[in-house]
Amino acid sequence: MIVYGSSSTQLAADLSRLLGASAARFETKVFPDGESYVRLPRIDGVEKTLVVNTMYPNQDKRFVETLLMCDALKRNGAKKIALVAPYLAYARQDKVFLQGEPVSPQPIGQALRCSGVDEMFVVEAHSDEAVSALGLKCWNVRVVDSMSKAVLSLNKTPQVVAAPDEKASHRAKAIADRLGLELIVFSKQRDRITGEVTTHPSIEADVKGKTVVFVDDIISTGGSIASAARIVKEAGAQTIFAVCVHALMVGGAEELLASSGVVRVIGSNTVENQFTAYSIAPELVEELRRQGFQEG
Ligand code: R5P
Repeated sequence: MIVYGSSSTQLAADLSRLLGASAARFETKVFPDGESYVRLPRIDGVEKTLVVNTMYPNQDKRFVETLLMCDALKRNGAKKIALVAPYLAYARQDKVFLQGEPVSPQPIGQALRCSGVDEMFVVEAHSDEAVSALGLKCWNVRVVDSMSKAVLSLNKTPQVVAAPDEKASHRAKAIADRLGLELIVFSKQRDRITGEVTTHPSIEADVKGKTVVFVDDIISTGGSIASAARIVKEAGAQTIFAVCVHALMVGGAEELLASSGVVRVIGSNTVENQFTAYSIAPELVEELRRQGFQEG
């Protein structure tokens, strides 16, 4: 049985179809004071449940909603709960960078466990450190295949794949190798207090007159890609795209990227919004099947 909340309706439908499982939607609402309310009207068949609810937007609301959903399931007979939270929020604070900070995924994982989550599936989580800090059995599904297809679906095939920082370079290299494209990698420093980003190329490629696609896990403010895109644009790139997994696109990200030369941004259905242009369901289903979630 698949149950889902308000944030992953398309993905839950994809998973239900691909796994041949029935799906039921939690009713959700927000009380006048801002508190979340959930209720599963159909409670039969919830013994072994896959809960699908991504943690964006908004992280805090989706997180609390997920806790409440799991509690309701447990009270109504769920013996085993697996959570699919394709965008794992709070993963970027995966270590103490400045004295006095938390390791955020740790309390997130603890709370999920206390609410009945036995295991978890996330997609391209920010880091392995974040996943292990959760402290519960968690599969971090990689989606290089779907991302590569998304790159090929752009209306101009790129010649160069660009990583906006060194952390993004493995994924970018895997995509560049798979598609036989050149690779350019940037080095990024972010001011931990102001969030300001400075960038310079660390692996260079000639981009003059070429189509360049940036690939990254997350686009949040757009600052990381914008800063590198300006350099690529100045070096004479003709067209610049950005393909990410989780298109959070907060605040003025779209405008910032456009003014830095990026003509189109696409993300996957880990976050469902107007940037969603490809599905990561194939890799997710493959992992779910490997872990015993079979059809019928
Ligand atoms: C950072 O390490 C991540 O991989 C992304 O590059 C980053 O989170 C993107 O954030 P923003 O769009 O705000 O620069």
